[in-house]
Amino acid sequence: MLFAGFLALSKLVCWKRQSESSAADQIFGPLQFQSDGTFQLSIFEDLHFGENSWTTWGSQQDLNTVKVMNQILDAEPTTNLVVLNGDLITGENVFFENGTHYLDQIVAPLLSRNLTWASTYGNHDSSYNLSRDSLLAREQRWPNARTTQMVSASTAGVSNYYLPVYPASCTASCTASCPPALLLWFFDSRGGHLHQQHDPTTGALVGQPDWVDESVVSWFQATNAALVDAAGGTPIPALAFVHIPTNASLAAQERGVNPRREPGIDDDAPVAQQGQGWCADGVDNGTCAYGGQDGPFMAAVAGTEGMVALFSGHDHGNTWCYRWEGRLPGMEVEGKGVNLCFGQHSGYGGYGNWIRGARQVVVSRDAEGEVVVETYVRLESGAVVGAVTLNDTYGQDRYPETPNDKTRCPTCS
Ligand SMILES: *[C@@H]1O[C@H](CO)[C@@H](O)[C@H](O)[C@H]1NC(C)=O
Ligand SMILES: *[C@@H]1O[C@H](CO)[C@@H](O)[C@H](O)[C@H]1NC(C)=O
Ligand SMILES: *[C@@H]1O[C@H](CO)[C@@H](O)[C@H](O)[C@H]1NC(C)=O
Ligand SMILES: *[C@@H]1O[C@H](CO)[C@@H](O)[C@H](O)[C@H]1NC(C)=O
Ligand SMILES: *[C@@H]1O[C@H](CO)[C@@H](O)[C@H](O)[C@H]1NC(C)=O
Ligand SMILES: *[C@@H]1O[C@H](CO)[C@@H](O)[C@H](O)[C@H]1NC(C)=O
Repeated sequence: MLFAGFLALSKLVCWKRQSESSAADQIFGPLQFQSDGTFQLSIFEDLHFGENSWTTWGSQQDLNTVKVMNQILDAEPTTNLVVLNGDLITGENVFFENGTHYLDQIVAPLLSRNLTWASTYGNHDSSYNLSRDSLLAREQRWPNARTTQMVSASTAGVSNYYLPVYPASCTASCTASCPPALLLWFFDSRGGHLHQQHDPTTGALVGQPDWVDESVVSWFQATNAALVDAAGGTPIPALAFVHIPTNASLAAQERGVNPRREPGIDDDAPVAQQGQGWCADGVDNGTCAYGGQDGPFMAAVAGTEGMVALFSGHDHGNTWCYRWEGRLPGMEVEGKGVNLCFGQHSGYGGYGNWIRGARQVVVSRDAEGEVVVETYVRLESGAVVGAVTLNDTYGQDRYPETPNDKTRCPTCS
């Protein structure tokens, strides 16, 4: 008895030491690879719940979106973690009293499957009537939420944190020799408008900067360095999530994405990127040229050894992945092989009628123990498109083109 109790306790202490011990950690355990050596993520993005809720059209969009989530999760029963990659709710359309209540509808398909999830917040998740803090509080009512806030600077936004994923072999015991096999980084690209604030002189809503804050970049670099140290100095494979893509995605698009080598839809040109609309002097009158505000974040992501891919949403009409290697025309920051990926617009709210879907990511290891990241998009039609391997020859390997399908249904926008 005593011995078992001691084991249980030492296990808990060990997880605590390596990550924040959340309710999800205590009930579901920390994230782990399956015994078959895989770990699968389903990324839903731009769900845009709560549009025009005062009309039948509005609530029908939300029902359609719930259906998409159910169809995709039924087709992907091996999902280990759901990522909600920003713009969960169209904040501009919600009421002060109940703006966060849309979360209950969003997470119902996850709760019914006993899945855990992790969110980043998007520009539409901050508005006069909706705050990121209240969204986080609502999420954390369920132990299934792994979303948390690890950077406290007032300018940092909210959804900045990381989740370690442990090897399958770490279940039996927990010792110091059990470092994470994969790190998942979640970054808050902010944007939208500040909660319940008006400009005192003009009366206008107050904008929130729309790039990853430098306080977050510093935290990321220091935390990653500490994790790598604790793991004995070996870089840890990692994936990252941020709602708004960076200038590197625009530079990749301008260089040209090849439909056979970087399969996906490429309808949103130019890419709407971090920093858009904001002048270098902090004014956001929408007229200034891009001011390079995401430079520190891009440099940090590009310079992190082991970082395999950065997944964004925001641009509903882009669904490709691009391997960023070397200096892209017009850019100062140099890529070192990180893949910049869009997902698939999952919600019936939000602009565009590209067929709804969700990017899937399957992480495994090859015979040499090297991490392998495969990804594809599962569509609401049930079809799978854009299946690729984000390895050293991604960008040179040839794949089938992704058809540019649109949603077909009587109630779509
Ligand atoms: C959900 O998963 C947890 C952790 O594995 C388990 O304890 C719980 O019984 C499960 N709940 C349901 C309804 O399956
Ligand atoms: C915010 O919510 C209030 C109360 O429901 C509503 O009257 C108002 O129109 C909303 N304002 C905005 C800017 O959405
Ligand atoms: C919020 O309140 C509005 C106005 O009463 C209603 O139309 C809407 O359906 C409510 N939304 C939720 C999620 O409860
Ligand atoms: C952003 O991308 C554009 C398009 O490729 C490029 O012209 C510009 O120089 C880039 N900005 C920076 C700061 O790298
Ligand atoms: C927007 O702000 C910038 C920087 O302060 C200024 O140079 C520019 O004239 C402004 N444009 C408008 C239309 O107000
Ligand atoms: C990368 O993956 C593709 C598709 O599975 C494969 O054809 C290619 O040989 C792989 N490249 C390397 C370097 O393993």
